[in-house]
Amino acid sequence: MRVGILGSGLMGGKLGKIFAYAGHEVVFSYARSEQKLKMLARDTKGKARPGTPRDAAQGADAVLLAAHWSRIHDVLSQTGDLSGKVIISCSLPMNDDNTELVVSHTSSGAEELAKMIPRARVVSAFNTVPSEVLFGIYEARREANRPSLVYCGDDSSSKGIAAELIRDVGFEPVDAGPLRIARYTEPFALLVAQLAYEGKGGPELAYRFERFG
Ligand SMILES: NC(=O)c1ccc[n+]([C@@H]2O[C@H](COP(=O)([O-])OP(=O)(O)OC[C@H]3O[C@@H](n4cnc5c(N)ncnc54)[C@H](OP(=O)(O)O)[C@@H]3O)[C@@H](O)[C@H]2O)c1
Repeated sequence: MRVGILGSGLMGGKLGKIFAYAGHEVVFSYARSEQKLKMLARDTKGKARPGTPRDAAQGADAVLLAAHWSRIHDVLSQTGDLSGKVIISCSLPMNDDNTELVVSHTSSGAEELAKMIPRARVVSAFNTVPSEVLFGIYEARREANRPSLVYCGDDSSSKGIAAELIRDVGFEPVDAGPLRIARYTEPFALLVAQLAYEGKGGPELAYRFERFG
């Protein structure tokens, strides 16, 4: 698949590299320096390239949205028309100092995003896992006893694409249902972050927490 990365930081940088290692054609976009995008692409030995958000979305089978909530309008304005695109969002609707969800209970960041780009096909995924464990999961990927990763969305073909990418990273995708279920997965992601960064076990504990079976 061709995968565009919008937001090439901790999540977008790591997931983009893993998608490239797994054989996908990746375009890294949206970082504060062009140099950073070039370095990410260089690390994949020719399987990814740097570009603008517009380049990343053009011709993409899936776009990973991995920007801070405060930057969503900015990155979307640089991306152009996303009608019909599969948008896999790992962005959590956090306030500026990442202490609180600014959308919750009766809606979710994913649902608000779907309202901002009504003709796109939004899937919420990857936001319940700390970025620190992603390379380890990819390196240890195996057929049996994969850790689970929940995702949700309203469009079945987009969810199929998300499930394939989730599997490529090394997780077993678990379909949690329609996009409104992000109201529950987004607060769950904060619990995982609390365990990862404030708890005693670190990111590995949070990752094990998501191993349902
Ligand atoms: N990190 C995690 O473990 C984790 C887990 C679950 C969900 N999430 C969610 O995933 C999303 C991304 O998180 P992250 O930790 O990957 O954040 P991050 O490392 O800060 O990445 C954000 C990206 O946006 C870029 N950016 C910020 N301001 C910009 C600007 N003015 N112009 C151009 N580019 C700009 C950053 O550029 P630079 O690279 O130059 O800084 C970076 O590439 C967030 O919504 C977060 O809630 C993160």
